[in-house]
Amino acid sequence: MDPLTLLEPAATRVRDPLSGRSAWLAGMVADPRVDGDVLRFTLVVKKDHSPEDRQRIREAIVRNLVERGWEGEVACTIRVDGLAEAPRRDGGHDHGHGHDHGGGGHGGGRDPIRGMSGPGMQPHGGPIQKQKPEGVKHVIAVTSGKGGVGKSTVATNLAVALAGMGKKVGLLDADIYGPSLPMMMHVSGKPVASEAKKIMPLPAHGVRCMSIGFLVDEKEPVIWRGPMVMGVINQFFKDVDWTDTDYLVVDLPPGTGDAQLTMIQGVPIAGGVVVTTPQPVALLDAVRGVEMFKKLDVPVLGVVENMAWYELPGGARAYPFGEGGGARLAAEYGVPLLGQVPLRDSIRQGGDDGRPAVLDGVEAFTQIAAKVAAVLPA
Ligand SMILES: Nc1ncnc2c1ncn2[C@@H]1O[C@H](COP(=O)(O)OP(=O)(O)OP(=O)(O)O)[C@@H](O)[C@H]1O
Ligand SMILES: [Mg+2]
Repeated sequence: MDPLTLLEPAATRVRDPLSGRSAWLAGMVADPRVDGDVLRFTLVVKKDHSPEDRQRIREAIVRNLVERGWEGEVACTIRVDGLAEAPRRDGGHDHGHGHDHGGGGHGGGRDPIRGMSGPGMQPHGGPIQKQKPEGVKHVIAVTSGKGGVGKSTVATNLAVALAGMGKKVGLLDADIYGPSLPMMMHVSGKPVASEAKKIMPLPAHGVRCMSIGFLVDEKEPVIWRGPMVMGVINQFFKDVDWTDTDYLVVDLPPGTGDAQLTMIQGVPIAGGVVVTTPQPVALLDAVRGVEMFKKLDVPVLGVVENMAWYELPGGARAYPFGEGGGARLAAEYGVPLLGQVPLRDSIRQGGDDGRPAVLDGVEAFTQIAAKVAAVLPA
């Protein structure tokens, strides 16, 4: 079972007196995991949290876990400024009565797992097992290296174009810190659970969509720590109903850091798409995107050169970001150039209005989709 499905509501109902927010949104819960019948997590506190506060928050979360049906034990490690205290264990039934096992941080519990972490390892250590999301034929990851080059624009238009070809398409916004799918697809609302207890994605423009933006307040910054982000992305793959999906297009967060690596290693990705603009500073980062896929044995479907040119009124082209950078990158790395997308007002407008420009006939996106579908038939 996924500990996050219990921990999130349990910690959401506990207030952190320092930040005034819930312990969950204050980022106090880290490293959740289930280990046999022990649910483990780290309570991340600040120096300014008094011992009473720490105790109260810890007990309240544990109490909520039990109320929500957790029957095993709970081991909570408190971490202050990078210092770890010994875990304390609570039996499933006797806390809430002030019962204290081994006070002063000397509980009789096992040590918390201090596995290796980082790329290739789960947040709590141990090599990652690739798990194919149920019902999905091909997972396509869209990345860029550099931020703001049009990754989400390409991901949404690619998804809508594939759907336009009659394919069954899902779109997953893995950009937890800056979700843009709700706006770009003009879709909002709270997803509901199916009878099989799976989260139902929200439909828009013939595509089934999932984004953290559906679950948290748009204006509230997500200040989760790495392990929580990984937890929610895993849930997006595992606990969302992607039944009968030909292509699941994933809009990765910008960059090639730990979050991207962990995600790419967590699910089998059929192909990676690298988006870049033509100028050298973006290409440099795009190279990292290509390298990341190659290192992780993800087949690179190709490069999309976005904002490739600007169409002048007379029909001539201007190249505000330089000419042909995407093509050179593709040639240099021996990967296909999937397409060149012009810099066009209507594409930006489409993003802001939640009506992907491919619906209004931007051919470049249709061509990109056709190439993707040719390589990955569904
Ligand atoms: N070809 C284009 N023509 C005009 N505007 C574009 C084009 N591609 C993207 N844009 C606009 O540029 C902005 C950034 O694009 P987008 O959000 O897709 O980038 P991103 O790489 O996903 O950014 P982030 O790194 O923040 O996730 C958006 O306002 C989008 O509408
Ligand atoms: Mg984006």
